[in-house]
Amino acid sequence: MDQAENLRNMVKSTEEDGGKPLSAESNRGKSRIITVTSGKGGVGKTSTSINLAIQFRKMGKSVIILDADFGLANIEVMFGAIPKYNLSDLVYRGKDLKDIIVKGPMDISFISGGSGISGFEDLTKDQIMYIVYKLKEIEGMADIIIIDTGAGISSTVMDFVVASDEVLLVTTPEPTSITDSYSLLKVLNKHSEFNRKTTKIKIITNKVRNYEEGLNLYNKFNVVVDKFLKIEIEFLGIIESDDNMSKAVIQQQPISIAYPNSKGAKCYKKLLDNLISDKTAEESHNEHKGLVALFMRTMKRGKGGV
Ligand SMILES: Nc1ncnc2c1ncn2[C@@H]1O[C@H](COP(=O)(O)OP(=O)(O)OP(=O)(O)O)[C@@H](O)[C@H]1O
Ligand SMILES: [Mg+2]
Repeated sequence: MDQAENLRNMVKSTEEDGGKPLSAESNRGKSRIITVTSGKGGVGKTSTSINLAIQFRKMGKSVIILDADFGLANIEVMFGAIPKYNLSDLVYRGKDLKDIIVKGPMDISFISGGSGISGFEDLTKDQIMYIVYKLKEIEGMADIIIIDTGAGISSTVMDFVVASDEVLLVTTPEPTSITDSYSLLKVLNKHSEFNRKTTKIKIITNKVRNYEEGLNLYNKFNVVVDKFLKIEIEFLGIIESDDNMSKAVIQQQPISIAYPNSKGAKCYKKLLDNLISDKTAEESHNEHKGLVALFMRTMKRGKGGV
């Protein structure tokens, strides 16, 4: 049996057992998977991913962040951590998952996307199967898995979005951010795999002056989305513009650690409370098939089946 055949069998068994974790140690049930995305770049996805991860940790939840923005080494810069290896070492250089998982502050684990992969489109079927097999080990290792995607409507980003149960769409008051968010939803709406019942879209309005501004922005956006796309979008909450955010970036520390009492950090805490109080999301993640199934669906479409 060649290696490809081996992998095919492993993936097949992964599918058959519904994506259960491999080892007893990681057999802790399914993780809640939260995908953070945006239409436009630079609107606060990475800040949101990291600070929500910290807020989850403060509640005692274990968290892994998957940096799925393959172009830029975002998470590691903000964590001030230098990972030795990244996802491309797993794919191309035979590294193990344990080698590429890095511990950031507060014991938050993260996997760097690195810049060696420009997207799943670049990988062969066998490489993808290998990633899927390895990802099976992540499922269940943490209570929460946060996927920080690249911006925009590339097929990789859309693959993550349609395959997720919970999508946080970050928008700012900038007109281009709003129109790009709309474009993302429009493309999503036409996507053959998009299921409006199973994929919940939650809007975060970032860099706003106050709650009213954020809520108004959501309301106006919602009217248009409802009228032309007929997609349900929820309002998760706001993040105020806060200069401490850039100070924290310079210190390579997330604001929730460097300035825990700042208005920015308090907004992340509130967002977390809203996520936690969504009982249907908490419960539905126990029903979905988990990270492996998510990737299986994505890969199957992209590569014509494994
Ligand atoms: N609420 C805020 N107040 C002030 N500055 C902010 C706020 N949110 C984010 N920023 C700043 O905006 C910049 C972009 O944020 P971030 O890197 O999180 O965005 P991104 O969407 O991940 O970007 P990219 O698309 O490049 O990955 C950073 O310098 C960050 O400090
Ligand atoms: Mg980013």
